[in-house]
Amino acid sequence: MTHALHGGSLIPTGSGVIDAEHGAILDLLSAMTAGGPFGLAELTALRHAVAGHFATETAEMAVLATDRRERHEQAHRSYFASIDALIATAERGGPLNDDDANRLMLWFIVHSNTADTELVEAARRANDEPPMISMDDWLDSLDEADRDALRS
Ligand SMILES: [Fe+2]
Ligand SMILES: [Fe+2]
Repeated sequence: MTHALHGGSLIPTGSGVIDAEHGAILDLLSAMTAGGPFGLAELTALRHAVAGHFATETAEMAVLATDRRERHEQAHRSYFASIDALIATAERGGPLNDDDANRLMLWFIVHSNTADTELVEAARRANDEPPMISMDDWLDSLDEADRDALRS
């Protein structure tokens, strides 16, 4: 049996918006893994919440290098594929079990604590960059002879 708690618990990333969305998704996953109903309705609600949340993160990803952005987007696509496979099973009336719910929880916690934390940290660093100092403004403060020599 897969135990979701082996992934540890959700660590705040430091982004209020992302952490609030993580909390809402964790609530859905916790209900599924705690023996609550786990079927088409719950999976559809999860997919909806996850889609909105991944869109939030995609909007933040401009700060990531291309390869890291692609890896993060690929991880999101892979999670969608897992949820969609379970939705297809539920639609066929196939069995869903505790391991399925626990794996959804496990992935979500590990991803949030790693890739998402990196994303928030990269966004924070980008916002902390000092403003660009204009070379023209700086040259204007010099004597004319120095200014002309440096501008030429
Ligand atoms: Fe996330
Ligand atoms: Fe993510």
